[in-house]
Amino acid sequence: MLTQNFNLIHLASVRSTNLHATDLLSGKKLIEPTVILADYQTEGKGQGENTWLSDDSKNLLFSLVVFPNKIKAREQFYISKISAIAVREMLSEHIAGAKIKWPNDILVNKLKIGGILIQNTLRADLISNTVIGIGLNVNQEKFSLPAVSMKTLTGKEFDRIGLLNSFLGIFMYWFETLQNRDFATIELEYLKYLYGFQQWLKFSWGGVEFEAFVEGVESDGYLILKTRDGKILKFGFREVDFLLDA
Ligand code: BTN
Repeated sequence: MLTQNFNLIHLASVRSTNLHATDLLSGKKLIEPTVILADYQTEGKGQGENTWLSDDSKNLLFSLVVFPNKIKAREQFYISKISAIAVREMLSEHIAGAKIKWPNDILVNKLKIGGILIQNTLRADLISNTVIGIGLNVNQEKFSLPAVSMKTLTGKEFDRIGLLNSFLGIFMYWFETLQNRDFATIELEYLKYLYGFQQWLKFSWGGVEFEAFVEGVESDGYLILKTRDGKILKFGFREVDFLLDA
């Protein structure tokens, strides 16, 4: 069923494809690149404490398990970058204007269409395996939170397996770029599609709203902002919120 060289585990329902992947990995039952695909998740996980909700059989819900052999712990943000790059590129075959919101949300018209949750396992200084959980809104039309799907944006239904195959082909290209340690190419592509890059945006930090210029993202994943009075601020994951309506 998959055109790429991945094993496929397709489940009608599971707690979370990421949880399923980490369970299999900890039982040493996964040793090859594998996609765990679900039609429905009863405990879909989002970033932090968030949940990821998705109607049955409407969207893409999967976790990709890969085994990088040369990527160091301090380079782990590149896994995040290539995953977001690959989702954006796959979407661009059907929809214009998709952006990557730091660190790895996928937006169209400032609304979320996809999310990525990555869990890396380290052995000594290297990443021994990574679980890349991806949720992409495909054919769902109603959402409890502000969000969009490929269907709401185009009016068309999409074949989920076709999209998955296309994603896997693109992902493998970027994964090889990473394995070849071509960080500069990855950096350029990520910044090219980064929401707000080199622009003034509104943010909220500990309840305080402020305006800042998006200078870039450091190789370890920190977001670099410059305030109106020239101060440089550095934020880790979930330390600052983008005010998307502003
Ligand atoms: C986010 O909060 O933006 C990340 C969402 C990630 C959701 C996907 S759906 C497939 C995989 N399994 C999970 O439980 N979560 C990820």
